[in-house]
Amino acid sequence: MVQVSSIDEVQQRLEGQDYVCDRALATVVFLALKLGRPLFLEGEAGTGKTEIAKAIAAALGRRLIRLQCYEGLDAASAVYDWNFAAQMIAIRTAEAAGGADRDALKSELFTEEYLIERPLLQAMRPQVGGAPVLLIDEIDRTDEPFEAFLLEALSDFQVTIPELGTIRAPEPPIVILTSNRTREVHDALKRRCLYHWVDYPNFERELEILHARAPEAAEALSREVVAFVQRLRTEDLFKKPGVAETIDWAKCLLALDVIDLSPEVIADTLGAILKYQDDIARLQGSEAKRLLDEAKAGLEPA
Ligand SMILES: Nc1ncnc2c1ncn2[C@@H]1O[C@H](COP(=O)(O)OP(=O)(O)OP(=O)(O)O)[C@@H](O)[C@H]1O
Ligand SMILES: [Mg+2]
Repeated sequence: MVQVSSIDEVQQRLEGQDYVCDRALATVVFLALKLGRPLFLEGEAGTGKTEIAKAIAAALGRRLIRLQCYEGLDAASAVYDWNFAAQMIAIRTAEAAGGADRDALKSELFTEEYLIERPLLQAMRPQVGGAPVLLIDEIDRTDEPFEAFLLEALSDFQVTIPELGTIRAPEPPIVILTSNRTREVHDALKRRCLYHWVDYPNFERELEILHARAPEAAEALSREVVAFVQRLRTEDLFKKPGVAETIDWAKCLLALDVIDLSPEVIADTLGAILKYQDDIARLQGSEAKRLLDEAKAGLEPA
């Protein structure tokens, strides 16, 4: 069982991993751990959904197992595969040694020795230090049949391999699913989970995150960077910058020895925060200056 006794403790432990977590997120993490329920995190890109799984694993001293979802991912490649190459070599060796017994060979070829464990099977295996954290990342990229399969795997934490039998997790893994909501994930799967929408952080929280992730940035620059990105997010952009972009941008500015934001600096480094030409074009001319002035005005003490 997972040894966390309060929401505060969750928050502190994640902070120990440089993960800044608001009360609502800490609460849902605490409940997921306490009740042993999967946690479903949905939200904009770059808001710390993947990172929290890493932080939880590190904070609890558990192994992190990641299943990266993609279009066309099927149950077999998420659970296990047979090592065909090794099986072929075994067959050739047996043939070369002369007249292998076919049945004996067959039973030998489908043993653990030739099994390649994929993330879901790995997550069912006992681990030193306790059940692992299983991150099922970007589930919205897979299709419905895979979701249905996951639903089953997550309800009994066991997988069946026809040649080997059923493998059951001695202790259920801590499951975290993420989605960027490029499509809606089925209700049945969501219902099994605790749900949380991960939004962009407010100014104070984003500044805290920047302090944690780019501590070498001076306070004044950090505040300007966060204020500008926050202002930028209120614009009608094709792709709004996430927290990841804020951190990247601050690091770029540091690398260029920038101490103060100016429209020129912004124009030169916009590629760190905006990744679409249409969005970058919007900030050409006087637009960057206008946003910067507004962002800076908001920073002045009342
Ligand atoms: N709350 C946070 N505390 C600390 N760092 C954070 C936080 N949120 C985001 N980050 C930083 O932002 C980076 C990107 O976060 P992450 O990859 O988890 O985003 P994501 O929500 O999974 O995005 P995507 O949907 O694009 O996969 C992380 O590597 C981390 O440095
Ligand atoms: Mg992610």
